[in-house]
Amino acid sequence: MNILILGGGGREHALAWAAKQNPKCDRLIVAPGNAGIAALAECADIDVLDGLAVTQFAEENAIDFVIIGPEAPLAAGVADALRAAGILTFGPSAAAARLEASKSFTKEICDACGAPTAGWARFTDAAAALAHVRQTGAPIVVKADGLAAGKGVVVAMTLPEAEAAITNMFGGSLGSAGAEVVIEEFMRGEEASFFVLSDGTDVLAIGTAQDHKRVGDGDTGPNTGGMGAYSPAPVLTDAIAEQALTRIVKPTIAEMARRGTPFQGVLYAGLMIDKGQARLVEYNVRFGDPETQVLMMRLGAQALDLLLACAEGRLAGMRVNWAADHALTVVMAAKGYPGPYVKGTAIRNLDSLPEDSQAMTFHAGTALCDGKLIATGGRVLNVTARAASLAEAQARAYAMVDRIDWPEGFCRRDIGWRAL
Ligand code: AMP
Ligand code: GLY
Repeated sequence: MNILILGGGGREHALAWAAKQNPKCDRLIVAPGNAGIAALAECADIDVLDGLAVTQFAEENAIDFVIIGPEAPLAAGVADALRAAGILTFGPSAAAARLEASKSFTKEICDACGAPTAGWARFTDAAAALAHVRQTGAPIVVKADGLAAGKGVVVAMTLPEAEAAITNMFGGSLGSAGAEVVIEEFMRGEEASFFVLSDGTDVLAIGTAQDHKRVGDGDTGPNTGGMGAYSPAPVLTDAIAEQALTRIVKPTIAEMARRGTPFQGVLYAGLMIDKGQARLVEYNVRFGDPETQVLMMRLGAQALDLLLACAEGRLAGMRVNWAADHALTVVMAAKGYPGPYVKGTAIRNLDSLPEDSQAMTFHAGTALCDGKLIATGGRVLNVTARAASLAEAQARAYAMVDRIDWPEGFCRRDIGWRAL
C-alpha cells in the first residue's frame, strides 16, 4: 500500500520508521519530511494545512492511507477533506480535534460525561478573570482557550503571576488563541501521558510515557516542547490505566459519538496522578512529540496495523503485542532553545551510530545542505534506545549522544531520572 504521512518532525520520522518496517508498506511519502526521513521515504513539499492540496496530491500519487502527524492540519480539517474524497485517513475531523484546539470545549465534554478533571471557569474579559483569581488565590492555572503552540498555559504559583498571565492573554500576546481564557484549579501529583486509539466507538490503549518539559537538568528552567521521554511510565500502573480508560477516555469517546462528532485517531490524555487517582490535565488529538519516538521504538511494525485498524473501524478485534521492555529518547536541541538559537550549524558523525530495532536517531529539525547535515530547528535530534531495563536504555541513548559531533547542540543529561 502507498502511505502518506503529514509532518516533518521527530514524531513523523518515528511513524515513518515504524510503517516502513511493515511489509504492507510499499511506497512511503512524508510531507514535508526532513533529512532523516529522506533516508527512508520520499519527501514532498506540499502545504499540509491545505486539505484540497493534500487530497489532490494523495489522488495523483495513488495514496491508500494518510497518517496526519501534527495538530494544525487536523484542526484545519485536512482529515475531513481526505475522507470526503474517499481516502482512508488516520486522524480526527476538525470537529473532534476541538478536544485539543479548545480547552473550554474539553472541559465541557468532561463535565458532560463525568470525567474527573480540575475545577474550571471560562472568561471572555480580563476584569472578571482578575476578580476570579483574586478571590480564589494561587496556585492557579491560567490557559488560553485556543491552540498556542505550547505557550498558552501558565501555572501561576503566586497571585501576581496569575494576574500578569491574564493581562497578557487578554492583551493579545497569543493572538486570537487568548480571546477566551480558562482558569483552572491547580492539581498536585505526577504527570504521565496515556495513548489510546479510537475508531469512534472502540478504544485500544497503545502505551504510556512521561516526558520532560523543562529545558534544564532536574526539571529547571523554561518550558519546552519536550526534552526527552521514556516508555512505559511506571506511575501509570495497569490499575490507573484501567481507571483512566473507564472514567475518562471511554466516556469522552461516547460523548463525542453522542454529539455526532465521533473521535477517530489517537487520543493522547495528559493525566495527573495523585493518591492512586488519575485526573485529566488535557487532551491532544495526535501523537506526542517526543513520546511517539519511544512508543514507536517499542511497537515497531505492528504500529501500522494498529493505525490501519483504527482508521478502518476494526479496533474491537485488535490487540497490542507488548514486549516487557523500555525505550528512552534524549532530545538534542540547538543551544539557546527554547529562546533564540542559531540555525544552520553542522552535525557530524551520525553515520557511525547504530540504526536497528534497539537504537535509532530520529530527526526533528534537520536538512541536507551541500551534502552536509545541518540543524534547522530548536529541537533537532531524538536519540532513542530500547533495552530490557530503563537504566540500560538510558545508558545506550547517552552513549549514542556522546558520539554525535555537534558543538552547537545540547541535551539534558538526566532523562528518565524520575523513574530510575
Ligand atoms: P497543557 O498544555 O494543558 O498540557 O498544560 C501544560 C502543562 O501545565 C501541563 O503539562 C501541566 O504540567 C501543567 N498544568 C496544566 N493544567 C494544570 C492543572 N490544572 N494543575 C496543575 N498543572 C497543570
Ligand atoms: N510532548 C508534548 C506534546 O507532544 O504535546
